Amino acid sequence: MQNKQQSSNMMYKNGRGWLRPFYFIFLSRTILVLGFIFVIWQSWNNIKAQEELCQMTRESLEAIKAASIACKNVKEPVHVPLPTSARMCDAIGEYNEIGKSNDGPTIFAITPTFTRPVQKAELTRLSQTFLLVPNFHWIVIEDSEEKTPLVTNFLAESGLTYTHINAPTPTHYKLGKSDQVWKKPRGVEQRNAALRWIRNNLNESRNGVVYFADDDNTYSRHLFREMVKVKRVGVWPVGLVGGLMVEKPICDEATGKVTGFNAIWKPERPFPIDMAGFAINLQVILEKKEAYFAYDIQSGFQESEILKKVTFRDELEGLASGCTKVYVWHTRTQNPVLNTENIYKKKRGKASNTGIEV
Ligand SMILES: *[C@@H]1O[C@H](CO)[C@@H](O)[C@H](O)[C@H]1NC(C)=O
Repeated sequence: MQNKQQSSNMMYKNGRGWLRPFYFIFLSRTILVLGFIFVIWQSWNNIKAQEELCQMTRESLEAIKAASIACKNVKEPVHVPLPTSARMCDAIGEYNEIGKSNDGPTIFAITPTFTRPVQKAELTRLSQTFLLVPNFHWIVIEDSEEKTPLVTNFLAESGLTYTHINAPTPTHYKLGKSDQVWKKPRGVEQRNAALRWIRNNLNESRNGVVYFADDDNTYSRHLFREMVKVKRVGVWPVGLVGGLMVEKPICDEATGKVTGFNAIWKPERPFPIDMAGFAINLQVILEKKEAYFAYDIQSGFQESEILKKVTFRDELEGLASGCTKVYVWHTRTQNPVLNTENIYKKKRGKASNTGIEV
């Protein structure tokens, strides 16, 4: 009985025993095949990913090429989003050169400025347009005894090439509280300080154009594309000035010669145009060493004062598509009403801008 049981057990074990190698073979083969499939699938994925990467690189290279060609024609910065894949290629060097044309003249923009609630806002608006201009050098002159921390730090963080000067207006020329803004000349001391800096620090070997860029105007980047064409003295329309929508020279479109002016306000001015409406080649500034702005000049005649020292009406070069385009506006920022500050100070014992620069 026990024997029978044992033999039947043996038979059972033997019955599975002969199948075991097949299981083994089947299992190992399956694993092998699955492994194979997995490896092939992974390689396929890899090839696909590499193809995509190559395609992206090719496309970005083409974009870079197109941008640099366009850039050579227009001489202004072109911003091309750069896919990460393009970083692999040598064209990155070329990409970094886009927008930096070193053959054009440097624009030296002269900006007088003074401390007031809107100062930083005005300078911010200006600086962010100027960042779009290739070969730009900002000369900022503070009407103050000392350079202020606000302007010093602002310029340091502006990303622009700049020169920071301070030149206080002599006390007897300062505006009184009750004086109208047009009563006494503004910016004379500061613009003259900038002209002195230019004459002391730059020479004839430098290709440049000088522009008086007040800190309250609004400038289009296209204005600077016109300005680089100035050979002696260039002029163009200015929006929102002289009581008109636009005050402009009247130009012969073919020759660019200025045949007249449309000004109504003091049309007897030798050059009836706004400070924002002209630029002077650096060579002219260096040649005519005596050309400065002057005090004791009737309001509205400062532009004429400098221009009559450097040029004649019939020498003017009319720009901005034959004086038909407005690229600068004589905007006026309204003085902010800050009367709640006094209530704030009484309530809180300090100004709202204590410890925070505005
Ligand atoms: C002009 O300035 C450049 C650079 O500042 C200088 O290298 C050069 O010697 C100067 N030339 C003259 C004639 O002073």
